[in-house]
Formats: sequence, structure tokens, C-alpha cells
Amino acid sequence: MNNKGRNLLIIFFMYAGSILLLMLCPDRASSSPYLDSAHGNYTPLPAYGVKRDPTLVPQLDGYSRGNCAHCHEQHASIGGAEPAPTGGSPSIYELFYSNYVSQTDNFCYKCHTDLNSYQTGGIINRSYSYRAGNYNDGLNDILEAFSFTSPDSSHDLGDIRTYITAQSWGYTNYSNPCVACHNPHRLQGDPANSSLYGSSPKSSTTRGWPVSLPSQHSKDNNAWGLWGDGTGEKMSDYASGLRYQAPYRNGSTSAYEPDGSTTQLGTNLTDYATFCQDCHSDSMTGAPYSLSNTPVDWATSSGDKHGKRGADATSGNYIDIDNPYSNTYGAQYVLACTDCHEPHGAPNVMLIRKEVNGAVLSGTISTITPPAGACTPTFPSGSKELGYLCNRCHKDDADAGVGSANEWQYVHHDSSDAPYGGGMCNDCHSGSGMTRNPINCNCCHFHGSTDSAAPSSRRTNRRTF
Ligand code: HEC
Ligand code: HEC
Ligand code: HEC
Ligand code: HEC
Ligand code: HEC
Ligand code: HEC
Ligand code: HEC
Ligand code: HEC
Repeated sequence: MNNKGRNLLIIFFMYAGSILLLMLCPDRASSSPYLDSAHGNYTPLPAYGVKRDPTLVPQLDGYSRGNCAHCHEQHASIGGAEPAPTGGSPSIYELFYSNYVSQTDNFCYKCHTDLNSYQTGGIINRSYSYRAGNYNDGLNDILEAFSFTSPDSSHDLGDIRTYITAQSWGYTNYSNPCVACHNPHRLQGDPANSSLYGSSPKSSTTRGWPVSLPSQHSKDNNAWGLWGDGTGEKMSDYASGLRYQAPYRNGSTSAYEPDGSTTQLGTNLTDYATFCQDCHSDSMTGAPYSLSNTPVDWATSSGDKHGKRGADATSGNYIDIDNPYSNTYGAQYVLACTDCHEPHGAPNVMLIRKEVNGAVLSGTISTITPPAGACTPTFPSGSKELGYLCNRCHKDDADAGVGSANEWQYVHHDSSDAPYGGGMCNDCHSGSGMTRNPINCNCCHFHGSTDSAAPSSRRTNRRTF
């Protein structure tokens, strides 16, 4: 930090009101983790930390890059006038704008948007499919990701705020729901290098760690560390004794998620199972969350097969699976939530990624749930959209060499581990002859599912997710 910047920082601290007394003392600021964060980065040049655009906020001209004043203001004013943007009610955190207003109006969006950003030069941000999967879906800012509406989807920030406020994790009604998952004073870019922001996927040579674990939240933001950077915080740790297999990057059979290296067993991937399960091991059935299939059980041998439960059978072709997964490891696989889901928003229902395991889904998934009870006593002939996701890792009839893309006769009727032999086709299918109308996949495949919707005489009671 140059002298002017340091002096201004000191003045800022002296000027600061009661809450700001809690801040770091300036001596420590120079060695605090804040300066290792993407927001606090002021050196080496070109630095990339916070800096509100002086053409929009002349009062802040001269405040060095990374200075706290680019986010916090004393009584919403600096030098007597309230710097732009004005109008947000000053919060207890003395931020320059309301901490949280709605799904699409929030302090963080004042900078994290591609249009009219207060950050000098604007900010480009991407989807997880882009940063980990190296697939350019065109999404280029955070506001856009949280603006997806049905049939697309985004994580509901109001509900997240309700949820975190109800836990004893130190959040209040004033908390910002983005701060459920990110520590604004610690978070790092990934890649952690300004010249790569916006234009590049993650790189194995410049890793940084953007998230913190909600349940470890502390109002002392120095005490609330990052998640993923430390030992014991990787997918390889979560799957310890079992096996995490990194999916391919888009279009590649040699570069793997998340960072494009040849590392495959999750030693380089944040433990996103523990991270998401911090909240999703709870039931979110009913108001206000309105989810149906929670709690998600990923961590026990009685939970999901994509989690720590093993597949049925452990030898032969017990799964009909695509590379890089194989039948060699005996029902050992444990997936990361982010192998299938975006964290912010997605152009499919249920935050389902547009690109999974090396390629884009061959269609959009716009419906998931059949009407309650619609699967019994007879199946609705119905949507096979879910198959677009399954097909990124499992073999449909085309992959198995017996039929067409996104038809699923082989795995259900013909493979060595198939659940349903022939018999009375009409028990399950409408139509006639050997070409039968499809059955809605959602009747049997969701978190926690079995095939309990099948006619009782044909049910296998196998877990189907
Ligand atoms: C439920 C947890 C969660 C919430 C809530 C959340 N994020 Fe994220 N965010 C993540 C995860 C997970 C990633 C991906 C991290 C990675 O790439 O390893 C991410 C990535 C990011 C990135 C980096 C994107 C890039 O270009 O790579 C930014 C910026 C970001 N989030 C900002 C926000 C903002 C702003 C909000 C609120 C409007 C928010 N996040 C809310 C979990 C969350
Ligand atoms: C990127 C914007 C940003 C920057 C830069 C920033 N802060 Fe904050 N700070 C926030 C937000 C947002 C909150 C509120 C967190 C929440 O909603 O829980 C906050 C909260 C705080 C709090 C209250 C403690 C808490 O988290 O409950 C203190 C004290 C604080 N900041 C001090 C600082 C100091 C000192 C600096 C510079 C060394 C700084 N901040 C830089 C965004 C920022
Ligand atoms: C004053 C402008 C400003 C505000 C307000 C702001 N940020 Fe940032 N943020 C930045 C800048 C600048 C960077 C680093 C450069 C970049 O990402 O292109 C950054 C980086 C990040 C990153 C790491 C990005 C990456 O590429 O991996 C995350 C995550 C993030 N911010 C989240 C938040 C959250 C959450 C909030 C609200 C609590 C917030 N930011 C508020 C300016 C801001
Ligand atoms: C801080 C708590 C929290 C964390 C962490 C969290 N979630 Fe959520 N999630 C929620 C809440 C609350 C809802 C219900 C509101 C909604 O539907 O968005 C939800 C909803 C969802 C939904 C349903 C979305 C829809 O369209 O109805 C999916 C899918 C999901 N989360 C996946 C994830 C994944 C994947 C992660 C980890 C990257 C994650 N969540 C981390 C709180 C959290
Ligand atoms: C193999 C892909 C895949 C993986 C891996 C995965 N999910 Fe999902 N998830 C889905 C699909 C498909 C749906 C929609 C069906 C359903 O509701 O269960 C879904 C739905 C959800 C929902 C909404 C459930 C509801 O009530 O409707 C939540 C929450 C969720 N996932 C969280 C997670 C978490 C947390 C993890 C990691 C522990 C995870 N998912 C891992 C595919 C996946
Ligand atoms: C990212 C890759 C991936 C995606 C996408 C995926 N799966 Fe899987 N699935 C796997 C892996 C790997 C296993 C093996 C798990 C184990 O070893 O325990 C598996 C196992 C299963 C099993 C257990 C099979 C058995 O023999 O017990 C079922 C059922 C299943 N998946 C259904 C689905 C459905 C339905 C979808 C689409 C909604 C889907 N999967 C999407 C990777 C995936
Ligand atoms: C116990 C229930 C059940 C019975 C009985 C059954 N099937 Fe199926 N069948 C399924 C399920 C489940 C699928 C996978 C969902 C799907 O592809 O529609 C499927 C898939 C198919 C498909 C692929 C449809 C597509 O477009 O994806 C064909 C064709 C098919 N079955 C033919 C038959 C014939 C012919 C019979 C009688 C000899 C029969 N099935 C008996 C449950 C059954
Ligand atoms: C009547 C219930 C039912 C319906 C409907 C159904 N499935 Fe299945 N599915 C099963 C059962 C049972 C299994 C076998 C699980 C096992 O191997 O233990 C299975 C297995 C699978 C597998 C894993 C195959 C493997 O071993 O690798 C995939 C993928 C799959 N189904 C996709 C679909 C798709 C796509 C649809 C809709 C077109 C669909 N299913 C409809 C019951 C159903």
C-alpha cells in the first residue's frame, strides 16, 4: 500500500463509527488475511481489489485500491456527501448500499454486474460450468445468474436468509445471503490472478478459494476461514475410503474438472458435498422452502448411491456408465454436488448444470415433478427430459448400441443388472407392441428415491438415485 493509501486507511479507521471500532487495527491490516482476499488485493500491480469508479464516485478518488472505504462508509457519507450509489438505507454495517433488498437487488450486485458496475472497469463473473467445466455458456455476471426464473432456476436468496437466520451460526436479519457462502473479507478468486478474471476457467497454477462454510460463520471475519483451502476440506477427504472421480472438462478426454489438470481423485476440488450439506442435510419440505426431496442424505450407506451408498451389485457391468467412470471400482463412487448442480443459477430446473462431464446436455430440463400422486396407480406417459442429465454419465440405448438417443430400454430391461424383465408390458407402459411409450423418469429418480412407484408385483425396492 502506498503512503497516501495507508494514511487514508488510517484516517478512515479514526473516522469510523462504533461498529468500525471492531475493525482490524491498521497495523494488522497490512498482514491480515483481508489483503490476501480478492477484495483487498492492492499489490502486486496490476492489483484487482475493490475500487469504486472515481468517475461515478469522485469523493473516493485517491482512496487506494482495496481500501475498506470502497465498501464501508461512515454514516453513509464521506467528505460530507453520500457517495454514489445513493438511496440505499445505511445499514448497521455502514455499507454504501443496502446489504440485501431482493433476489435481484443487493449490495454485492452494485459491483458484481457487467452493466453499470461501480467497480472500476466492471466485473465479469462466470458459471461453475464455465470455471470448472471450461464451457462458455455466455453467462457473464452474478446478477444474471440469480435472475434465472422458471423454468430455469436460481437459489432463492430470501429463503437462504431465512434459513441462516434460523440457525445459531451468528447471522441476523441484517445479514447478506451471499455472506451465507462467501466471507467478503477473506474470499479469493479462482483463478486468483487479475489478468485471468472473467476470461479464463480455473487453472491449476493460480488456485484461490471463494467460499466459506456457513456453519463456521463468525462475526469476526478474520476468524471465519475459507473452505477448500485447508487439509481435510477436499472431495478426496470426503470420499476417503471410497472414490471421487473428477468429470471431464467440456470437449476433452484428458483435462478434468475443476482446474483442467490431469488430477482425477478430488485432491484439488473443494469438498462441496460437506459445503452444500451444511444446509441440505436439513429438511426443507414445506413453507417457505417448498422443496420435496430433502433432507438429502449423501453421507451414509443408507443414503443416495451417488453419495456414500454403493451401487447395487459390485461386479460385472453393475453400472452402465460412461468414461471416465468405470465398473472397475466396486460401487465406490461418491459424487460432488457441483458435478450436477450450479451454485447460483442455471438454465435448467433445480440448478442443474448446462454442461456435465465433458459435454452440454442435449436438451433443456424444464420440468421435474409430476403432479403429486400422478405416478400411481398407472404411470403417466411422460417427460424424458431428466434423461439429458443422466445420459452425460450413463448409457442410453444409443450408447449401448441397441437404439436411439435418450431412450432407456437397455438399462431397465436388457443390461445384466436391469431391474425389469419383460412380462406384461401394460403393467407399466401405455401403447402396444415392442415400441412402448416412455414413462416419466421423475416417478422413480430423485434424491432419496426407490422404485416404489412401480406396480407392487414388479417393484424391486432398489434405491434409484
Ligand atoms: C449457497 C451458497 C452460495 C451463495 C448463497 C452465493 N454463492 Fe457465490 N459461489 C458459490 C460457489 C459454490 C461458487 C463456486 C466456487 C468455485 O468455483 O469453486 C461461487 C462463486 C462465486 C463467484 C465467483 C464466480 C466466478 O466468476 O468464478 C462470485 C463472484 C460469487 N460467487 C458471488 C456471489 C454473490 C454476489 C452472491 C449473492 C448475490 C453469491 N455469490 C451467493 C456459492 C454461493
Ligand atoms: C467487498 C466489500 C467489503 C470490503 C472491501 C470490506 N467489507 Fe467489511 N463488510 C462487508 C459486508 C457485506 C459486511 C456485512 C456482512 C454480513 O452481511 O454479515 C461487512 C461487515 C463488516 C464488519 C462487521 C462484522 C461482521 O461481519 O458482522 C466489520 C467490522 C467490517 N466489515 C470491517 C471491514 C474492514 C476493517 C474492512 C477493510 C479492512 C472491510 N470491512 C472491507 C463488505 C466489505
Ligand atoms: C466495490 C465493489 C465490490 C463489491 C461491493 C463486492 N465485490 Fe466482490 N469483487 C470485487 C472485485 C474488484 C473482485 C476481484 C476482481 C474480479 O472478480 O474480477 C471481487 C471478487 C469477488 C469474488 C471472487 C471472484 C472470483 O472470480 O472467483 C467473490 C466470490 C466475490 N467478489 C463476492 C462478493 C460478495 C459476496 C459481495 C457482497 C457481500 C461482493 N463481492 C461485493 C468487487 C466488489
Ligand atoms: C446457506 C444454506 C444453503 C447452502 C450452503 C446451499 N443451499 Fe441450496 N438451498 C437452500 C435453501 C434455503 C433452498 C430453498 C430455496 C430455493 O429453492 O432456492 C435451497 C434450494 C436448493 C435447490 C432447489 C432449487 C430450486 O430451484 O428449487 C437446489 C438444487 C440446491 N439448493 C442445491 C444446492 C447446492 C448444489 C449447494 C452447494 C453448492 C447448495 N444448495 C448449498 C440453502 C442452501
Ligand atoms: C447425479 C446428479 C446430481 C448430484 C451429484 C446431486 N444432485 Fe441434487 N438434484 C439432482 C436432480 C436430477 C434433482 C431433481 C430431482 C429431485 O428433486 O431430487 C436434484 C434436486 C436437488 C434439490 C432439490 C430437491 C427437492 O426437494 O426437490 C436439492 C436441494 C439438491 N438437489 C441438492 C443436492 C446436494 C446438496 C447435492 C450434494 C450432496 C446434490 N444435490 C447432488 C441431481 C444431482
Ligand atoms: C456426473 C455423472 C453422473 C450423472 C450425471 C448421473 N449419474 Fe448415476 N451414477 C453415477 C456413478 C459414478 C454411479 C455409481 C455410484 C457408485 O459407485 O456407488 C451412478 C449410479 C447410479 C445408479 C445406481 C445403479 C446401481 O446399479 O445401483 C442409479 C440408479 C443412477 N446412477 C441413476 C442416475 C439417474 C437417473 C441420473 C439422471 C437423473 C444419473 N444417475 C445421473 C454417475 C452419474
Ligand atoms: C415394471 C415396469 C415395466 C414393465 C413391465 C415393462 N417396462 Fe419397459 N420400461 C420401464 C421403465 C421404467 C423404462 C425406462 C423409462 C423409459 O424409457 O420410458 C422402460 C423403458 C422401455 C422402453 C424405452 C422407451 C423410451 O422411449 O425410452 C421400451 C421400448 C420398453 N420399455 C418396452 C417394454 C416392453 C416391450 C415391455 C413388455 C415386454 C416392457 N417395456 C415392460 C418399465 C417397464
Ligand atoms: C418405474 C420406475 C422407473 C422409472 C419410471 C425410470 N426408472 Fe430408471 N431405473 C429404475 C430402476 C429400478 C433402476 C435400477 C437401479 C439399480 O440398478 O439398482 C433404474 C436405473 C436407471 C439408471 C442407472 C443405470 C445404471 O445401472 O447405470 C439410469 C441412468 C436410469 N434408470 C435412467 C432413467 C431415465 C432417463 C428414465 C426416464 C426416461 C427412467 N430411468 C425411468 C427405475 C425407473
